[in-house]
This record gives sequence, structure tokens and C-alpha cells, in this order.
Amino acid sequence: MTVSHTIPVLTADDVLTRFEQLRTRQPVNYFAFYSSQLGGIVTDPALMVLPFDDHMVHRGHGIFDTAGLVNGKIYDLEAHLDRFLLSAERSKLRLPFSREEIRDIVVKTTAASGKREGSIRYWLSSGPGSLELTPAAGSEPGFFVMVFGGLAYPDRWTTHGAKVMTTTYPIKARIYAITKATNYLPNVLMQMEAKEAGFDNGVFIDANGHVGESSNMNVAFVSRDGALVHPRFDHILAGCTSLRLLELATVLRDQGLLKAIEVRDIPVAEARASREMLLMGSSVKVVSIVQWDDQLIGDGKPGPVARALFQLLEDDMRSGDRLIDVPY
Ligand SMILES: Cc1ncc(COP(=O)(O)O)c(C=O)c1O
Repeated sequence: MTVSHTIPVLTADDVLTRFEQLRTRQPVNYFAFYSSQLGGIVTDPALMVLPFDDHMVHRGHGIFDTAGLVNGKIYDLEAHLDRFLLSAERSKLRLPFSREEIRDIVVKTTAASGKREGSIRYWLSSGPGSLELTPAAGSEPGFFVMVFGGLAYPDRWTTHGAKVMTTTYPIKARIYAITKATNYLPNVLMQMEAKEAGFDNGVFIDANGHVGESSNMNVAFVSRDGALVHPRFDHILAGCTSLRLLELATVLRDQGLLKAIEVRDIPVAEARASREMLLMGSSVKVVSIVQWDDQLIGDGKPGPVARALFQLLEDDMRSGDRLIDVPY
């Protein structure tokens, strides 16, 4: 970026042109954006903007959630809406719409995108009106929906597994960890630190030496005695993928691939000795972790439980009973 000697004062047309130029220099996979502030949907990424004084922008007073769009259907939206409404309450954010209206806007924005595969992320903000901390007098909460291409991970994660490191950044305090607010600084720093050190992602450990979660995904294990073990959800985000997989995994228990399914505190030493370690989340689905710090997990290769859980999730996303049709 170059700064010219004279800084122009721009007209509205100039601003639009410059936003369009920005998007030409930096193409993005954003297909449709709803804004309650605009009262409508836009499909030109240059127009997907917020007022700078929105408190979600300058104070992080906002929440969000993301649901998957698979084969023209929205997957598990009700679970994501449950968590969204819980996060709103914990963040003292007012809702501009009812749950039914929010669902309707999410579905209609998805239809306007014309896309059948991708992700749908939606946010609630406390709104614009001041640069204070508490919501501005007369501010209206903002609701936004973005239909986009989704997060991408290297194919290597699927074929060979991922490598994680114990982050040096402290885990979020419980109330912040269980709330899906836009404050992701610890998560961002953890992922950057891991990549700089040659790993794929980081893992938070809590003050008692129990495993927490990764940057935007949960972690789980297959113990030495063949149980699927997941950390308790009181100090990490209740991942919709994890919650669903804990239900779907009962099939593997019935088939004998798993001995038990447990949600409990997991000491690091026990976790490191597990047969398999898994990453689970809406964007990553299920991926094996084959290395944690300088130690291989199991035989250092993706394991059978990870493969089976991935398949169960894939089937659920394509033909299960948690799909909403998009009226394109
Ligand atoms: C911190 C954190 N943990 C876990 C998850 C996994 O949640 P989900 O399965 O709902 O994508 C996410 C993603 O939303 C996250 O941001």
C-alpha cells in the first residue's frame, strides 16, 4: 500500500470505486451478505460492509456462528441457532429478530447466493452509534449473514493427518470459552504460533493440566482401552460437530469399534498416550492428529475411529434428518 502526499477527501462514488478495486486486488469467495442495517441482501463483495463505529468492530461486542451448506441443504442449523442464542444471552446482546425470523433470513440469504456448497456464518452486534464500551444510546443491534466458500484445509490433513503443538497462550476463562464471541485473539495467536513453529494448529491446556480445544475445532481421543474420550464442555466451546459425533459414535460402540464414549476431564499425560487423537469441527469435519509436539500419537498414522467418525458425519450431512432445504 502506498500513501500519496495528499490524502484525498472522497465522495460516495470514490468510496464505492475503491471498495471495488480492493476486491479486485483481493478476490474473495463471498457470495451473499445480509445486513439488518441495509435491510437487504447484497451479492457484490464490495458492498459487504459495516459502519466503523459498530461495537462489534471496535470493541468486539458481537457473537457469531457458522453452519455448513452441503448439497443445497443447511446442516444442523437448529444446534447452531441454540448456541447462537445462548452466546447472545451471555454477551448481553439484544436480538433484533425472533429465532424464526433469524432462521428465515439465514435460509433466504443462502438461496440468494445460488450456492449449494459452502458455509453460512452469521453475526449479532450491539450496533453502531458511539466509540464507548456499552451500547450507544438508541443503538439497534445488527444481524448479518455471509454465505461464503468455507474454510479450506490441506488435503494432507486427510491423507496423512495433522500435527499440533501445545500453545504457549493461556486458555480463555470459562465464560469466554463457552461463548462464541468475536474475541478470537487467543485462538488467532495460537494458530499463528503453531504455523510459525511448523505445526498445523495448537491445543489449549487448562490450569489443571486438562486438555482444552484447538483454535476453531475441538479435540478428542481414543484411549488405550478403546473409548472415545472428549473433554467436558464447561471450559471449551460446545462444538455442534462434537455433540453430534458423540451421538453418532454409539453406532461404533454397538459395532465393537469403540468400548465406551466418555465426556470427562482428560489429563495431558493420558491424552498423549492415546491410540488416536482427533480434530472435530464444522469446517474440518473429522481429521486425525498424528503428532502432538515432538511425540507421535498411536502409530503416527490416521486411525480407524477417525475414518469411521468422518464417514458417519459425511452421511449425516448428506442424508440425515438434520437438513434444511434451501428454496433456490
Ligand atoms: C473455539 C472453537 N472450538 C470448537 C469449535 C467447533 O465447533 P463446531 O463443531 O460447532 O464447528 C469452534 C468452531 O466453531 C470454535 O471456534
